Order: sequence, then C-alpha cells, then structure tokens
Amino acid sequence: MTLDALSDAAPTPAPGAPPPTTTDVAATRGRVFSGVQPSGLPHLGNYLGAFRNYIAMQEGYDAIYCIVDYHALTSTHDGEVIRRNAREMALGLLALGLDPERSILFRQSDRPEHLELSWLFSSVVPVSWVERTPSFKEKRRTQPDDVNHALLSYPVLQAADIAIYHAGYVPVGSDQAAHVELAREIVRAWNTRYGDYFVEPKAVFTDSPMIRGTDGVTKMSKSLGNTIDLFAPEAELRKQVTSMVTDTQRILRTDPGRPEVCNVCQLHRYFGEDYESIWEGERTARTGCVDTKRLLADRILSRFAEARARLEELAARPGLVEEILRAGAERLAPQASETVRVCHERMGLGPR
Ligand code: TYM
Repeated sequence: MTLDALSDAAPTPAPGAPPPTTTDVAATRGRVFSGVQPSGLPHLGNYLGAFRNYIAMQEGYDAIYCIVDYHALTSTHDGEVIRRNAREMALGLLALGLDPERSILFRQSDRPEHLELSWLFSSVVPVSWVERTPSFKEKRRTQPDDVNHALLSYPVLQAADIAIYHAGYVPVGSDQAAHVELAREIVRAWNTRYGDYFVEPKAVFTDSPMIRGTDGVTKMSKSLGNTIDLFAPEAELRKQVTSMVTDTQRILRTDPGRPEVCNVCQLHRYFGEDYESIWEGERTARTGCVDTKRLLADRILSRFAEARARLEELAARPGLVEEILRAGAERLAPQASETVRVCHERMGLGPR
C-alpha cells in the first residue's frame, strides 16, 4: 500500500500537539512505527524508499521512529561503530526533517521491553517461519562465518518493535515487506492463542520502494558499497553519481539510450517534473550519460542543500541527539510497560 492509498488513518492531531503516547490500544489506530539500523548517515535509498514517508507521516499520524541497535548486533560486533553510527543516523533523520516535537525518535536499547516482548512472541513462532525469511537466507550466504542465533530471531524482534506500541502502519522499503508480513502472522498467532490484543500492522510504501545502487542492479545498500550518500562532501557525492552504471547497451555517445532500464534516468523521476524530456534526450542521443549524471548530481545537491546545512548545525550542538533520543525513549515507557504487563497477565507470568 502506498501512502496516497491510505485513507483510514486516525483523525489529525491538533497542530503543534506532541504525538500522544496513549496506552489505550483502541486509540492507536493511526499509529506509525518504523525502524532503521544504525548504519551511519542515510543514503538516497533510505530516503526515497522510506524516510520520505517517515517525514510525511508525522502529519496526521502518531509517529514513532527507532534506531534499532539491538538488531545491529546481528552483523556488527564493534561497539564503538554501532554507537557512532546510531548517532549519525539520528542526526541524518533530524536533518532530513524528523521533528521531535511531532514524532518520537528513540534508540531501541533504551527500551529493553522490546527484547522481552520478542521472547514472549518467539514462543508462538514456528522455527520454519524464521528459517524461510529472505533476509535470514541472504545473511547465511553473505556472512557464512557468523550465522548467529540473533539473525534467526531478527524478524521476531522486528515484530515486537512494531507491536509493543500497537502501530498499525509501518513505512518501509519493499525489502522489508516480508518482515512486516511476518509481523502480521506473529501477532495473529499470539492473538489466536491468548486473545485479541495486538494490531496487525500494514506496510506503507513510497512510489520508489526499491532504489537500485550505483551498480544499477542490486538494492542500494551500505553493505554493498553502492550508495549515494546524502551527506557526503560535494566532490564525493558527485563521484558516486558519476560512477553509476547506466544502460549497458549504450556504448557510443551516439547510441540511443533506454531510459526504462537506465538507473540514472529512473532516479531523475524523483528530482523534477521534466524527467520525460530528460528521457527523450537520452532516447534520441541528444544528451549523453555524462550530461544526465551531472544534472542528477546537481539536483540531488540542490534538493538536499537545506538538510546538509542543517546536519552541520545539529552536529555542532553536543548532547542534542542524545537528549532527543533519551526523551523519546522516556515518553514511550508507559506504553511499553503496559503492553508487557498485559502479556504477562494473559500468558501466565508472575502473580495474577
Ligand atoms: P534498514 O536499516 O536496512 O533500512 C531502513 C529503511 O530504509 C529502507 N531502504 C530502502 N528502500 C528502498 N530502496 C533501498 N535501496 C533501500 N535501502 C533501505 C528500508 O526498507 C527501511 O525501511 N529491518 C529493518 C529495521 C527494523 C524495522 C523494525 C523496520 C527493525 N525493526 C520495525 C520497520 C519496523 C532494516 O534493517 O532497515
């Protein structure tokens, strides 16, 4: 589902009102949750695939966003890297327009109740469900020497992240669709066993749910080294755009290009309404790949000029990010502990 197709949201909160953190499940219909790994400053794929919706959904929804540092432990074992990358990701999100007055931004490990709910959920999850998750299969291939147990539990923790706040909507890129679908199945299994309580979440996509990397083939991703980094120094960003693989059948400058397969042309869709005339230039060989790339780099730099300046300002204020993350986690405490309390009661843990 795309954001445009979403019409059953909760009523818009009063302008300027901070997002509610109600513990009343019935009142959470318009709640949004999403998470992002602490992978340093954001790239263009994060923004076009998910963060655009994070920002848009601050309006009219009760939005909660999380830097998922527990999840990062499945692949990164250097604590300093996780901590630094979490701070950078938070800075990037704030610079791009996340507003702590209108949404909540927090770090997962500051709300350890997520781990508890993940354990409680794991008791209703057949092992076969997690073993067949595409991300687990991929990690087994890409990090064969480190197939740790947490990799298998990864999507269960992701389900807990969403369900602990009873979020109904999850803005993500299409690579996360299987995880959100599994989250739906997990809460359904829990509700069937212990009685209706959790909301079945729905994924919300942008019109560009999968952005290809500079190689033109695979998903843009830091781990593949094929990113366009929104906050890279200008020369570096231009170099990344220049390195993009275009239409591999266009060898000579005079060969006609095929915009439908060219990743540079496809990205132009999101940087100006005149993209069809840019495509026409490629098709007729009026323009070459170098021209089209230069224009794309100019447009990316101009679109993110404000965010890039804001990042510098925010980074110059020591303690600011920590304070925002801490305050966000604190506001979520009542909801997180209430959810866990209800689970204890229904699942037979502790005294009645
Ligand atoms: P992560 O950190 O890989 O990515 C963060 C968000 O960016 C989107 N994204 C992309 N979208 C389109 N094209 C791309 N090339 C691209 N690269 C990244 C992702 O789809 C994602 O929305 N498992 C999650 C984190 C998570 C989570 C959650 C998400 C943990 N708990 C609960 C939602 C709800 C992940 O690793 O995202």
